[in-house]
Amino acid sequence: MMKRVTLMEIFEHHIAQKYVRRAGLAHAISAAYHAYKFSLEYGVNPDLATKAAFLHDIGHYTWYRNGQWDYNLYKENDIHAIKGAERAHKLLIRLDENPVAAKEIALAILLHTDSYLPEQGIQLEPLQKVVALADTVDEEPGGAHHYRKISDEKAKKMIQKLDDKIMEHLNKEKIKNQATMN
Ligand SMILES: [Fe+2]
Repeated sequence: MMKRVTLMEIFEHHIAQKYVRRAGLAHAISAAYHAYKFSLEYGVNPDLATKAAFLHDIGHYTWYRNGQWDYNLYKENDIHAIKGAERAHKLLIRLDENPVAAKEIALAILLHTDSYLPEQGIQLEPLQKVVALADTVDEEPGGAHHYRKISDEKAKKMIQKLDDKIMEHLNKEKIKNQATMN
């Protein structure tokens, strides 16, 4: 079996350092925690859900006019979910993530928001729903969640703790599966 790519490895990669920070590290971490919780509720793989949630805004761009965040400019031009899906995929492949997992994560990022999609909407898979939910519950009015601060020390501690929870969960699942196979 391939070694799991950890959230810590993702966090420490220079692509994440640049773009996850730009979109808000505190929001990325709390979205990952929400995704963990929802993934257990929906029976979704928490490894994929937390990675997608941590990286969901990695394609974020700041739409400013005259030094001010401009919602109309954003609404007209933003493709952060498309850019984010591609950027996250590239980062994951570079870290040697399983390519099927990287594709699922990228798709969940692509569909985490419907702000750029046609009106009818799309029927989301459970993983995609979990990631979209995790983002939504952490949002603040006026996009304030992108500017929430977190110290590097606290960020690392929280990421490590989440990695531990995921490993524990995956190990439990493995033991369960072995027991049913015997
Ligand atoms: Fe977000």
